[in-house]
Parts: sequence; C-alpha cells; structure tokens
Amino acid sequence: MPDRPAVCMITSEAHPIIKVGGLGDAVPALAKSLLTQGVDVRLLLPHYREVQAEIICSQDVGELQLGAHRFSVRMNESRIGALPVYLIDIPELYDRPGVYGPRLDEAHPDNLLRFAALSKAAYAVCKSLNWIPDIMHGHDWQSGPAACLSRLPEYQAAFPGLRHIITIHNIGYQGVFSSREYASIGLGESETAGCKLTLNGDLNMLATGISHCDAITTVSQRYAQEIQGPLGYNLENLIRQRKNQLFGITNGMDYDEWNPADDVFLPANYDSNKMQGKKICKQELQKELGLPQDDEKMLIGIVSRLVYQKGIHALAENSESVLPKLCNDPRLQVAILGSGEHWCEKQLQKLSTECDNIAVRIGYDTGLSHRITAGSDLFLMPSIYEPCGLSQLSAMRYGSIPVATATGGIADTVQDGISGFLFPSPQASTILKTIH
Ligand code: ADP
Ligand code: GLC
Repeated sequence: MPDRPAVCMITSEAHPIIKVGGLGDAVPALAKSLLTQGVDVRLLLPHYREVQAEIICSQDVGELQLGAHRFSVRMNESRIGALPVYLIDIPELYDRPGVYGPRLDEAHPDNLLRFAALSKAAYAVCKSLNWIPDIMHGHDWQSGPAACLSRLPEYQAAFPGLRHIITIHNIGYQGVFSSREYASIGLGESETAGCKLTLNGDLNMLATGISHCDAITTVSQRYAQEIQGPLGYNLENLIRQRKNQLFGITNGMDYDEWNPADDVFLPANYDSNKMQGKKICKQELQKELGLPQDDEKMLIGIVSRLVYQKGIHALAENSESVLPKLCNDPRLQVAILGSGEHWCEKQLQKLSTECDNIAVRIGYDTGLSHRITAGSDLFLMPSIYEPCGLSQLSAMRYGSIPVATATGGIADTVQDGISGFLFPSPQASTILKTIH
C-alpha cells in the first residue's frame, strides 16, 4: 500500500448533502476520519434532486452505456469540510423526488439501473480525473455491482491492482431484483468474466458485492457474528464462506455534528459539567411539541425510520403495544419523530390526538432530531436488529439514557445498567417493564 493510499468511496447517502438514516452519518464520518489520517479519500454519490451542496466545479464525464440504456453523465464536485465529494449527475435517474423511492416504504421501480449506473460511473469519474484509487470502498447493496466491473479486461488495464471493500450497514436490504432485469443493467459481460450476479435465481446486488470483494466489513462486532446466523436474511451461508475476510468495526460518530456543547439546533447548550442547558432543552422541547411543560415528567424520545427493523410493531400495532399502554400515563411523556410505513404513521398520529402525553411529528427534520435527543430523559430503540445504531450513540452523547434491544451495535456500545437499559428482545411487555 502506498504512503498515501487513495480510496474511492461509493455511497448512496452522505450527511449533510443527503441523508435518510445512519448510513448518511456513518460514511462521511468514516471518510473524514480517514482523511485526517492522511488517506486520499473521496466520496461519490448520486446527485439526487434533494441534494444540498455547494457545487465548486462541474465537468462532463461522457456517455455511460448500461444494456440498452445510454446516459450522458456530468460530475459535480463539492466538499464536506475538506472531504472531496463527487456528485454523479444523471437527471433521468436521479432528478426525481426521493432517494430510494417517493416514500420510505415505496422503492423507485428502476433502482437496479439507478445504482448499477452509480457503480459504473464511479470508474468513469476516476478515469476522467486521471485518479487511480488503490481501493474502491462500496457501502451496502447500492455499490454491489462495482466489485464485478473490475473483472473486465478494460477495467483491469485501467485500474491495475485495485482492491475492493464492501461495508454491510444493513443486510436486511440486499437489492434483490428479478433476473429478467439482467439485460437492463448491461453487466452480462462481467458475469461471463466470472462475476456471478444471482443468488437462488434472483439478481442480488449485496450478495454480488460480498462475493467479489477482497474484504467485507460490517458496522459492529456483534453484527458480524449475527449475520452468520438467522439475522443474515438468507446470506448467512455466503457470509460464513467469507468469514476470514469479514471484519466487524463499530461505527464512530461525528462529534462535531453531535456535540451538545455547541449544537446550533438546540435552544441551550450544555456538557457533562454544566447540565443546566439540558433542562432548558427539555422545557423548550415540551413547548415546541405542545406537551405540558413539566420537568417532573420523564420524557421518552424516539427518532426513527418507521420500518419493521425498528420494532414499530411492538410500539404501535395494537392496544397491547407500548405506546397505547403509556397513553395518558401521568408520570411520563413521549416525543416521536419519524417517517416510514404508512400504517405506523397513521397509528402514531391517532395516538397523538388521543393521548395528551404523546407528541408525534411525521417527516424528516434534522433540527428536531437533535432537539429530541437533547430534551429527552430516555431514548427508546426497540430494534428487532441493529447493525450498529447511531441513535443510541448520540443519545449517550446528549445525556439521554438509551432503553434499547441488546442486539448488534447496541449490545456492543451500551452497557446494561451503566450507560443504558437493555432488553433481550422487543416484546411490548418486556419494553414496558424496562421503562418502568
Ligand atoms: P438507521 O440507519 O437504521 O436508520 P441509525 O440509528 O444508525 O439507524 O441512524 C439513524 C439516523 O437517522 C440518526 O442520525 C437519526 O437521528 C436519523 N433520523 C432517523 N429518522 C429521522 C427523521 N425522521 N428526521 C431526522 N433524522 C432522522
Ligand atoms: C444502517 C443500520 C444502522 C447503522 C447504519 C450506519 O442503516 O440500520 O444500524 O447504524 O446503517 O452504519
């Protein structure tokens, strides 16, 4: 490896340019950290419609052919701090509402094409910059095809000695598509060259990436173990075959982004030596959400994608679930921010009208996510599984005590009874017992 290794990171999210969940936090945090250690790391992601970035220059990358599709590609360059970011501009694929779909529970029908194009564009951008990375580092299934392309002779000639890493942030999302869509992505040649794209008859972009990279990392040690069993969601055999190349590395968080001592989203700042500001954050949060301003009430915060993984059934599915059971409990209040599955959004909104002590905001709101983390006493994360989890890290950073499932990265980062309270699995009765 050279003195200053060059790493091209392919990602579908990067805060503050675009973020849906923790992937958007973890990738730029890792990249910034590598940069300060002298690595020539650069991020590459799609130029979605919602991207918020100052473009410092823009250039044509040329034409990209994927099966029968042909796109003109531009590359818009931006920065996150000192970190170079290349935004792949293909309006036909990315200039529309939503990163993965118009809603969190609805995928764009051409996601295979959209993200295969991202992988292919990564090489085209490097070539156009005359930049030969030592490592292509892809994140999640969206980068899966990148590992295959380098099997092709033209790529091997242009990128000699290139190594591939894939990081699994969530094995529950694999990028599975019908093998009929095969032709549309134009990766047939790399399959002929020995890069298998299918698993059990379907195209599987995460399996493709895992099978064909030099090293696999995932976001906690516990999760590296868990995905070799039932939490591998049908990839456990593949993961076991590759376990000598698998490394569990717990995510860090960006302490500049998440610092209660100078967080601009908060009504007052504080740190562990001067906690008065946290009291003000709680009062102001109660006011902002229309909850009675009362310091004696224990305030439980939830900030989450409202999807199966996050234990939303235990929270809100029926009258025996956690939130209906806490409804109008005079001892506590609940502040919820999230978006995702429609039934859950509706159910939460109903609870917020029926229960004086439950406030709900449906949507995505960075500022409010910080204010809930700061203003709450407890932070609830009843995840079914959690590869790492950044929310419990920010909760601990902001002095809000995590009450969460002992799974994946939560189990690796929260010490039960010391820095939080853990339950073994997210059943409503167990969660309620732990809260009480
Ligand atoms: P995941 O990546 O599975 O969603 P993590 O705990 O790793 O879970 O990270 C979630 C990140 O997304 C956190 O930074 C959290 O604050 C943020 N987040 C989740 N939902 C929302 C929302 N509705 N508005 C703002 N931020 C959100
Ligand atoms: C995924 C996981 C989450 C993890 C994040 C960043 O979205 O669900 O647990 O913290 O990626 O790695």
